[in-house]
Amino acid sequence: MPESFDLIVIGAGPGGYVCAIRAAQLGMKVACVEKRATLGGTCLNIGCIPSKALLQSSEHYEEARHKFADHGVMVNGNVGLDLGRMHARKGEVVSANVKGVEFLFRKNKVAWLKGEGRITAPGKVAVNGEEYEGKNIVIASGSESIPLPGVEVDEKSIVSSTGGLELDRVPGHLVVIGGGYIGLELGSVWRRLGAEVTVVEFLDRIVPGMDNEVGKTFERVLTKQGFKFKLKTKVTGARKGNEGVVLTVEPAEGGPAEEIRADVVLVAIGRRATTEGLGLDAVGVEVDERGKVKVDGHFATNVPGVWAIGDAITGPMLAHKAEEEGVAVAEIIAGQAGHVNYEAIPGVVYTWPEVASVGRTEEQLKAEGVQFKAGKFPFTANGRARAMGDTDGFVKILSDARTDRLLGAHIIGPDAGTLIAELAIAMEFGASAEDVARTCHAHPSLNEAVKEAALAVDGRALHI
Ligand code: FAD
Ligand code: NAI
Repeated sequence: MPESFDLIVIGAGPGGYVCAIRAAQLGMKVACVEKRATLGGTCLNIGCIPSKALLQSSEHYEEARHKFADHGVMVNGNVGLDLGRMHARKGEVVSANVKGVEFLFRKNKVAWLKGEGRITAPGKVAVNGEEYEGKNIVIASGSESIPLPGVEVDEKSIVSSTGGLELDRVPGHLVVIGGGYIGLELGSVWRRLGAEVTVVEFLDRIVPGMDNEVGKTFERVLTKQGFKFKLKTKVTGARKGNEGVVLTVEPAEGGPAEEIRADVVLVAIGRRATTEGLGLDAVGVEVDERGKVKVDGHFATNVPGVWAIGDAITGPMLAHKAEEEGVAVAEIIAGQAGHVNYEAIPGVVYTWPEVASVGRTEEQLKAEGVQFKAGKFPFTANGRARAMGDTDGFVKILSDARTDRLLGAHIIGPDAGTLIAELAIAMEFGASAEDVARTCHAHPSLNEAVKEAALAVDGRALHI
């Protein structure tokens, strides 16, 4: 008799492992299948966590070299780089996190089925030739980098984000293809450590999904830091030689080709759902034209008892979105009212300054014909930002012209990723800009810039 579970989750990334834990909390007998040697998925092993470890370390290095002196802290040119130690520390951070998930599985009695999972029939999953029964199956198989034809990744001189987190020396010239989350975060790491960084972006702007004004400011700030941008440009080929890689690029709309020499090329043009090998065809689970598993508003696929969440389905490819869906689907399976509010999912680029947003952008509101008010406040007018010496950027708040209800918030500035949380909560509670403006914010804090932007929605900012 095959071992039987109330729920089998395929994939132990932030979507899958959180779903497994929540289902176990709700009294289900749960198994989670993971083919990687460690739990935690893309995020903990080769994504969010190692990239943030390197961003932190490289920021310390940059501060020691270029910012300490301004604060009167003199290191007299004695700042050195031990890249081996930096990578080792990153490994320790990853290891502590993935072991933490193992501990949580043991604590919640979630069985880890090690190996590649394949759905063989509704209610049946095979792992390493062993068959298991699951009253419910949640697909949480995540995503992988999109390849760029003609620029084949070897994870040495042409790398995906995975190789980009492992470079064993600082490249003289790093060319990043794609001006999105990964390109700008990993580009920042290697620029801070000494690389010249050129970003080749197909569109006329970086971080295309984000607020236009934030995107423009972001580009200007990164340019000031030394980034070079080639916008409206497409890569048409790559030639590897002893001297690195020669990329051929041309204007996106066509025109004369030009060559760019790079020591390392990072391909970061987006990610696609991982659904190969899951047996979806065999059981008839439908996928959309981009290979994402199709689900209804409750994460149910077209096959009863088979559900899907996270990067494998539509929506922003973010760890916290996957986690929210993991909790929601576990609660729905348990007969509760699990729900995700897609209007209030923050997005953060962890560069310095950070860029963060929640809700809709000005451009989206205009396209939808929604009448709105906008309030903006710059960090140059915030006392704490001045004390920190981090005055680049601003907070922008958008609210409904008639009801004043918050519709979106966009921040570029110090700790923007933390600042956005109060606006996400405010939106979750259906707050107005006035509610945020009338909330007492501690002084001197960066959050006062949020309050001032909320006041600015009605032209009442006090410090500008
Ligand atoms: P994943 O984390 O991809 O996990 C899926 C798991 O399923 C994998 O471990 C895979 O091995 C396993 N799997 C797949 N198929 C099978 C199978 N058949 N059998 C067994 N196991 C299987 N997001 C953020 O919110 N913040 C960040 O700062 C951030 N930084 C990132 C940095 C980088 C460099 C990258 C690449 C991504 C980053 N992301 C970040 C995105 C984030 O990693 C993903 O959105 C998140 O991991 C998605 O979670 P998931 O559970 O859907 O899938
Ligand atoms: P992305 O979608 O963020 O950015 C890709 C960029 O590449 C876009 O600007 C796009 O216009 C451009 N592009 C696409 N095709 C191109 C081409 N042929 N030539 C040049 N440019 C091209 O994708 P990215 O950076 O690969 O990251 C994937 C996803 O991982 C992100 O969308 C995000 O969901 C997640 N992520 C999240 C992070 C965070 O939350 N801090 C950090 C890293 C990744």
